[in-house]
Amino acid sequence: MAAEGPHSFSSIGLLYNRAMTETLLITGGAGFIASNLADAALAAGHRVLILDSLVGGSRENLPKEAVFLHRDIRDTGLEPVLKAEGVTVVSHHAAQANVRVSLEEPVLDAAINIMGGLELIRACEQAGVRRFLFASSGGTVYGEQSEFPCTEEHPTAPTSPYGCSKLAFEEYLRAYQRLDILDPVILRYANVYGARQNAKGEAGIVAIIAEHLLDGRPPTIFGDGEQTRDYVHVGDVCEIQNRLLERWVPGIYNVGTGVETSVNELYERISRRLASPIEAIHGPPKEGELRRSCLDAFLLEEAIGFRPTTTIEEGLDHTLQYYVDRASESQAKARALRRSLQRDL
Ligand SMILES: NC(=O)c1ccc[n+]([C@@H]2O[C@H](COP(=O)([O-])OP(=O)(O)OC[C@H]3O[C@@H](n4cnc5c(N)ncnc54)[C@H](O)[C@@H]3O)[C@@H](O)[C@H]2O)c1
Repeated sequence: MAAEGPHSFSSIGLLYNRAMTETLLITGGAGFIASNLADAALAAGHRVLILDSLVGGSRENLPKEAVFLHRDIRDTGLEPVLKAEGVTVVSHHAAQANVRVSLEEPVLDAAINIMGGLELIRACEQAGVRRFLFASSGGTVYGEQSEFPCTEEHPTAPTSPYGCSKLAFEEYLRAYQRLDILDPVILRYANVYGARQNAKGEAGIVAIIAEHLLDGRPPTIFGDGEQTRDYVHVGDVCEIQNRLLERWVPGIYNVGTGVETSVNELYERISRRLASPIEAIHGPPKEGELRRSCLDAFLLEEAIGFRPTTTIEEGLDHTLQYYVDRASESQAKARALRRSLQRDL
């Protein structure tokens, strides 16, 4: 299928439009976003295989109904698996997803995000899998934005190796579409948050604030806290993938709400909901951190009839409940451990 312009390479689109069960290979499915996607795809009646090296994800996140492939994305030899399992769609979320690590180890970042992705493309080509969904990053491929919210037409100017590797892999996918080998959907996610996000990652600001406050520790806000982000609830991302499985429209799409929220405002909302009196500490600004980021998802809505709609209030209610439940579980475990230690003494 021919490309149609820099950003609307889908416009007439390729509509698979099949109301049928798909077999998805979800890479990175032991991590935050993709484990939620796996649950949602299974709930919609699809079959799911998960590929993950567990370098960052956790076995706890793997749905029981999914087939698990404990592999690295850079490993060769995936093609027979795709064929034997009858994979029809690949949802590629495994990544080196940390901007700071990409600055310290740009070669590792490229090895996973570009070379690892190319191994997957090669396996898809050999196995004849055309539908390829890629988790790109709207927060990094545009660099410092000049419009708010910005559309997919905004110039790209990443300011980190991570942003470069995401953008480079987008270009590979577009080339493979021109070669009539893949029908890619590229989703440029804004800041996704929700249950299972890891507070150890740099991007999981909701998780970081919630875990600190529930643990009675003050979190650090870097800079003045007036930097803004577009927070998208992971439930909306799940809805997007499920809709695409019903109606596949190749293209590049922003995944954002179009609403900017500052870190200070986010902190305020979370601490109020958790009734926490703890004040945040302010640290020096992070070098190279974007001032504002916010995405227009009109194109996505036009393609699949949906764009992220969960407000930050609704999304936080759901997400904070998850962290509260987890904190009480680990407190209960700690109490049980203390009791058993006392008995043994
Ligand atoms: N969280 C966000 O706000 C956000 C924003 C934009 C883009 N993204 C992209 O979405 C995807 C998922 O992000 P997430 O926040 O769920 O991250 P995550 O760290 O929770 O999940 C990534 C998963 O990839 C796996 N992985 C990493 N390297 C691997 C390798 N070499 N081989 C196999 N598996 C490997 C990890 O074990 C982990 O389970 C990533 O591609 C990320 O770049 C996320």
